[in-house]
Amino acid sequence: MKKRTFLKSLAGSTLFSTSLYRTLEPYLLGMDQMTPQEAAENEEFWLAVRRTYRLKPDYINLENGYYCLMPQDIESRYMDHLRNMNYQASYYMRTVQWDNKKAVADRLAALIGADPGEVIVTRNTTESLDTVIAGKHWQSGDEAIMAEQDYGAMVNQFRLMADRYGMVNKILSVPNHPKDDGEIVNLYASAITPKTKLLMVCHMVNITGQILPIRKICDMAHSKGVEVMVDGAHMIGHVDFNIKDLDCDYYGSSLHKWLSCPLGTGLLYVRKDKISGLWPIYGDYGPAATDIARLNHTGTHPCHSDLAINDAIDYYHMIGPQRKEARMRYLQQYWTSQVRDLTNVVVNTPRDPVRSCGIANAGVTTMTPQEMADTLLKKYRIWTVAIDGQDVHGCRICPNVYTTRDELDVLVQAIREMSGN
Ligand SMILES: Cc1ncc(COP(=O)(O)O)c(C=O)c1O
Repeated sequence: MKKRTFLKSLAGSTLFSTSLYRTLEPYLLGMDQMTPQEAAENEEFWLAVRRTYRLKPDYINLENGYYCLMPQDIESRYMDHLRNMNYQASYYMRTVQWDNKKAVADRLAALIGADPGEVIVTRNTTESLDTVIAGKHWQSGDEAIMAEQDYGAMVNQFRLMADRYGMVNKILSVPNHPKDDGEIVNLYASAITPKTKLLMVCHMVNITGQILPIRKICDMAHSKGVEVMVDGAHMIGHVDFNIKDLDCDYYGSSLHKWLSCPLGTGLLYVRKDKISGLWPIYGDYGPAATDIARLNHTGTHPCHSDLAINDAIDYYHMIGPQRKEARMRYLQQYWTSQVRDLTNVVVNTPRDPVRSCGIANAGVTTMTPQEMADTLLKKYRIWTVAIDGQDVHGCRICPNVYTTRDELDVLVQAIREMSGN
């Protein structure tokens, strides 16, 4: 986006007036001269971004995969919404609540390239994907495909469907280092039978950060009459993509992860022609079967959180989706490239840059993942999470836009020392 258009587009946003935004402005003005890759390596800019966060000094936070804390600009707008909600109370709820929520959903739709009316705001990926899994009309003997590397909550929802309707789940294992897209596509293809109704696949595997070839999987599955539901918990706000390019049927994401929205915000995309095929979990009889609103009966809920999604989208545009993606990938490659070939170190994330972005996973073969996480925290003051299962043994490392190279140098040195290098 050109400088003038960019500033004009932000001028209408309330975030534009926050003091922290103003501290970023001088850096942003120079950014449109740079390619995303050049911007990714501009430490001055990212240090300015870092200053928009309030970071706990006790540790280096490399566990942003669970929840990406809000920068202060978004946090303060969120608090404003909360105060305003508490001031207007039921008046807000009875007048503009639903129009505002719909406007936010339409903005999210635009962000991912969906049509208005294909996206609803949910609380999280769990709610989004469970709405699809539990909303399908399962018959005894129907089959669904998923991977052991998928998120447990979704796999459990499929298990419940199996108990309730006698449908059958087929669980495959995604290799950490596929030789090419074909290997992954063939893996999913080989699990399909004439009884397969739904295939669940992660856009980014949460324990390793591996990005899967969704478009190719969708093309293959559709050619066999199978629908595809994508778990995009880690993609929105992290990797810049267009949902139409994926051609999936359903997509769920958590906005409190990489879009830096408040906790308890998510998104569900349902392709228009698939909406009427889903049975709502929470009763709503009003909207037409083809209206996605019938899948979105939330009852009374924290509507101030919905409003802060607007601010998070402003912030994301301010950073620049392509710049953020390039920075996240740069940070990951910065540390993995230094430890990948060390003895006693196993990097569980593919080397090819198109197969990952900011998240990666590495283990030290002489310690358990939990020992590694404990040592990282106690000895090096690095906060991560241990992953020990599903063919992945190591610590998941999730930096964020505020992470510095110096912090990653501490991680690299720690891995060197722990692995005896
Ligand atoms: C791949 C994946 N799917 C789904 C979820 C569930 O997200 P939430 O707890 O926000 O619903 C997570 C959470 O980390 C995840 O990593």
